[in-house]
Amino acid sequence: MKLLTGLAFIASAVYAVADVQYSVVAFPAGGQSVSVSVGGQQYPLANSAQYPNIYTGSAPSGSTYQYVLTGTNGAAESTTRNLASGTSKTGNEFFNRTQTVYSVPGLPQAFNPIYNRLETTFNQSTEVSTIIMWANQSTLDAMLAAPTTTTIKQVETYNLTYISSTETHFFEGVGFQVSGKSTKDFAKQSYKFSFNEYQNKTTDTLWGRKDFKLRADETDPTLMREKLMLDSLLASGAASLSGQWARLYINNVPFGLYLMMDDGSSHFFEAELFDGNDKAPLGVTYQGNAIGDTVQGNLVYLGNDSTKYSADAYTVADDGNVKAELKAAPLAPLMDFCQKLGEFDPSTATDAQHPGNITELIDPQHTLIHMALNFLGGSWDGLWYAASNYYLTQNSASQNWTIITYDFDETFGNGATANLVNVSYQNYVPTNEVRPLATKFLDSPYYKTMFETTLKTILKRFFKPSIINPRLEAQMKMLQEDIAWDRSLTKKSPGTDNHWTVDQFLTNVKTTSGGMMGLEEWVTQRSAATCQQLNITDTDDLPPLPAPTWSNTNIVTNTTSSTNGTAAAPSGQASGAQTTAVPALMTIVAAITAFALL
Ligand SMILES: *[C@@H]1O[C@H](CO)[C@@H](O)[C@H](O)[C@H]1NC(C)=O
Ligand SMILES: *[C@@H]1O[C@H](CO)[C@@H](O)[C@H](O)[C@H]1NC(C)=O
Ligand SMILES: *[C@@H]1O[C@H](CO)[C@@H](O)[C@H](O)[C@H]1NC(C)=O
Ligand SMILES: *[C@@H]1O[C@H](CO)[C@@H](O)[C@H](O)[C@H]1NC(C)=O
Ligand SMILES: *[C@@H]1O[C@H](CO)[C@@H](O)[C@H](O)[C@H]1NC(C)=O
Ligand SMILES: *[C@@H]1O[C@H](CO)[C@@H](O)[C@H](O)[C@H]1NC(C)=O
Ligand SMILES: *[C@@H]1O[C@H](CO)[C@@H](O)[C@H](O)[C@H]1NC(C)=O
Ligand SMILES: *[C@@H]1O[C@H](CO)[C@@H](O)[C@H](O)[C@H]1NC(C)=O
Ligand SMILES: *[C@@H]1O[C@H](CO)[C@@H](O)[C@H](O)[C@H]1NC(C)=O
Ligand SMILES: *[C@@H]1O[C@H](CO)[C@@H](O)[C@H](O)[C@H]1NC(C)=O
Ligand SMILES: *[C@@H]1O[C@H](CO)[C@@H](O)[C@H](O)[C@H]1NC(C)=O
Ligand SMILES: *[C@@H]1O[C@H](CO)[C@@H](O)[C@H](O)[C@H]1NC(C)=O
Repeated sequence: MKLLTGLAFIASAVYAVADVQYSVVAFPAGGQSVSVSVGGQQYPLANSAQYPNIYTGSAPSGSTYQYVLTGTNGAAESTTRNLASGTSKTGNEFFNRTQTVYSVPGLPQAFNPIYNRLETTFNQSTEVSTIIMWANQSTLDAMLAAPTTTTIKQVETYNLTYISSTETHFFEGVGFQVSGKSTKDFAKQSYKFSFNEYQNKTTDTLWGRKDFKLRADETDPTLMREKLMLDSLLASGAASLSGQWARLYINNVPFGLYLMMDDGSSHFFEAELFDGNDKAPLGVTYQGNAIGDTVQGNLVYLGNDSTKYSADAYTVADDGNVKAELKAAPLAPLMDFCQKLGEFDPSTATDAQHPGNITELIDPQHTLIHMALNFLGGSWDGLWYAASNYYLTQNSASQNWTIITYDFDETFGNGATANLVNVSYQNYVPTNEVRPLATKFLDSPYYKTMFETTLKTILKRFFKPSIINPRLEAQMKMLQEDIAWDRSLTKKSPGTDNHWTVDQFLTNVKTTSGGMMGLEEWVTQRSAATCQQLNITDTDDLPPLPAPTWSNTNIVTNTTSSTNGTAAAPSGQASGAQTTAVPALMTIVAAITAFALL
């Protein structure tokens, strides 16, 4: 008897630690509750005052389970989920989405990061996160009713919660507004968010940032083009904006699926160029822009007279630590850059020992990576082709500059001219256009070789169908339900509605839809054409990448966090396998606990 009781006790103890922590984001209607159903039995889940939409609780482990809305008109989610054996924690899931974290093949790294960047989960690619916010309804309504003419500077956000499977962050006092220029003409708006705008200026950050955007990318039926460009830049060692997909709810109303993305402000540049150090010598950042064919941020030196530089082509995006100097002469550093660029003599750069004095102005390899990806992705609205959509940032100590290109919804065939996909880099930009940054480098045989090596390296490492297509297909599967949900929602503003369908999404990831080349089709043709032009195969026969220059001392190892407003830099993983490691770790903890009990 005694022995049996003892065994029963041990069994129940083991059973107890083998319980699984379930967690789901749900929006039960009034009077409904949320449960998890395991082995035919329902176990209630509970929310908290702080996270009213996250329902968590312990229940036994089962090979399959479902979340259920109980009460009036309640129903189980349509999907049946599988629990991997040994899992002790599901992470935060989302009601009625079949899967939370996907196995997405990574992009092999082509070059190591050139700058000491803060590594964060901002560029995660394996799940769709959720943003739930409460904001001033009347101001929001007024802004959404007239986004192109609104005078509303900001909508007060009482609170905003970011939720992924492993991270939860809560913010108060956020401000947001509609963002972009021509993007405001669309019925689905894009938004820009800034922390610490209300409630006595808190000091919240998310992944070291104080601002982010939610981009609707309404010209892209797949919502996948921009993310692929950002990830390609990062995998090529460039400093780049980061992005991830997120679904948005405001005041309990579903707004849809967005690309949550960086914005070019001080905290971003500090994170991306200076390891997140806010004492770094961050100088001015200009934003280059083009309007039509005549106004271009082409970086041509027009003399030391600021009135000769179009205010539409060059704006100060961020004044870094040189606010006072810029107040006196906002374009002085830009004119100095253009002058020095114009003075560089390409024939002085002959080899690594004689790289020419352009190295004192801007990092050649970093600039050539941005050019290479602008070319490969067909960014016809970008730096090289259109002299537009870049940040030019000065280091106020060394006085040298960094260029970061962005705005990639119109890439991979979206809006591209007919033969852009097959054109060689020598003929990429129409011959009547003046692009000193590109031509100064390409007129030097040394940098021309460096550029071609850059292209070859990126083509061999990852810019090819055998690497990119499986990644796109995994992400297409991951996004499909959220795209269907997004397409079913009523748009919130007047303006252009392309009425993209799920079919167009599924088609255009792969091939032409409505005259727009597919992403996979673009990658296949661009990669083949460029390999042919450079006389290479896309086989990765390159030596292994050397160890990175930057040690990742800045990485915080906690992957699960729950904070009120400050999330630093969790989890660095090899870009190869981008699946969460939390369940495995928790399993080990559970196993050790179980062993100790025995
Ligand atoms: C978020 O704001 C809404 C609207 O003001 C409020 O009802 C809710 O209690 C807030 N949530 C938290 C956790 O403070
Ligand atoms: C779950 O989503 C499906 C569409 O995929 C829908 O038909 C069903 O009503 C949803 N179930 C619940 C309980 O929301
Ligand atoms: C929303 O903002 C408007 C304009 O600032 C203000 O008049 C109103 O009181 C606010 N509403 C709430 C519920 O705070
Ligand atoms: C802001 O600070 C002032 C003065 O300290 C205080 O009276 C006020 O209640 C604070 N407001 C908020 C929203 O915290
Ligand atoms: C440009 O002009 C300003 C004011 O006229 C002058 O202070 C500055 O030295 C000039 N810079 C160069 C590089 O000539
Ligand atoms: C490089 O040298 C040229 C002349 O030799 C000079 O005009 C130019 O300003 C120098 N550039 C930099 C970045 O120092
Ligand atoms: C700028 O100069 C600093 C100090 O000389 C150097 O470490 C850095 O690599 C340079 N950066 C660029 C973009 O050339
Ligand atoms: C690009 O070249 C390939 C191979 O020659 C050809 O199949 C394809 O049709 C071309 N694409 C365009 C848009 O010209
Ligand atoms: C192309 O590469 C092959 C093998 O590397 C070489 O034999 C051939 O001469 C090259 N052709 C050209 C036109 O450079
Ligand atoms: C990880 O989280 C635990 C619990 O929240 C905390 O005590 C610990 O300091 C964290 N470790 C790091 C490296 O942040
Ligand atoms: C966050 O703040 C709320 C009050 O706004 C408090 O109840 C909660 O305990 C805090 N949570 C954390 C993780 O600090
Ligand atoms: C973000 O990009 C970097 C550079 O390619 C990569 O090493 C890292 O794994 C990515 N992070 C995530 C969370 O995917």
